[in-house]
Amino acid sequence: MKPSVFVHSWAPDDVLAELGRHYDVDYANMFELGILPEEEIVARAAGKDGLVILLAPVPRAVFEDNAGTLKVCASVSVGTDNIDVAAATEAGVLVTNTAGVLDDAVADMAMGLLLAIGRRVVEADRYVRAGLFQTSGFELFWGATVKGETLGIIGMGRIGRQVAARAKGFGLDILYHNRNRLDPALEADANATYCPLDELLQRAKYVILLTPLTPETHHMINADRLSLMRDDGYLINISRGPVVEEEALIEALNGGLIAGAALDVYENEPNFAPALAELDNVVLTPHIGSGTVEVRHNMVRLAAKNLIAVLSGEPALNPINAPD
Ligand code: GLV
Repeated sequence: MKPSVFVHSWAPDDVLAELGRHYDVDYANMFELGILPEEEIVARAAGKDGLVILLAPVPRAVFEDNAGTLKVCASVSVGTDNIDVAAATEAGVLVTNTAGVLDDAVADMAMGLLLAIGRRVVEADRYVRAGLFQTSGFELFWGATVKGETLGIIGMGRIGRQVAARAKGFGLDILYHNRNRLDPALEADANATYCPLDELLQRAKYVILLTPLTPETHHMINADRLSLMRDDGYLINISRGPVVEEEALIEALNGGLIAGAALDVYENEPNFAPALAELDNVVLTPHIGSGTVEVRHNMVRLAAKNLIAVLSGEPALNPINAPD
């Protein structure tokens, strides 16, 4: 009997065919079904040897109920906050992610959001579409300077370092904050100066959030932290929504505590606070940081490779835990 796997993701035909050669595949196509309710995920994961999961909740019950059978949970994402990794580790299940294939795409998008909010690109687009472009344009949509300003990167992992590489080209001075300070060679390579979090928020004109969501980073950007930011400062969140307290952000924007925000992620995705959409100084995108054709395919391919490796007794390419 073939091992069995539950794939709750989208997957291209060749990946599904490859999985089908090795395993009995229960495929819940996320593009057609959306994210399944948690009870259904628990039910369909029952008795499986492996899971491929795209940003859907994988609660403790999945790991406890299938301890001994389930060997791998391969995430089609770099962030794994949707998965109860502690429960996986206790149940002997290896969790893998897709680190490496999306660094450039997310870094490009982070810079895109910085420019979009700083240079008011989306506001200006709405203006042109509304037929309001009737004059020379000289007086329209004066935005913020980029070159020579300070960028603060919070979360200086692989993606943060790619953002730094791009920001250097734009002439930005780079501060960063990270749980662990980078070693000097990496700091020099990134052209970035380590800075305590509160000081970074006070100094940076542009703040880009790239930190994973953990109990420590949940609501890391709250009312107190927003009040430290410059009143001409911009917040760009391309990590996870709950890193920012959304209500506090709305108050900060309404009260002029900061100049604007660009958000790719939200506290209760796919929902977001409607007040955000009423503000001109906010750019909103639907969690598309890694969304290029090539990268989205590569993420699914890499998750499948991780799954196959573990179920074949080989080392995973991207393990994020170390069960016994
Ligand atoms: C996307 O949000 C990811 O974590 O890869």
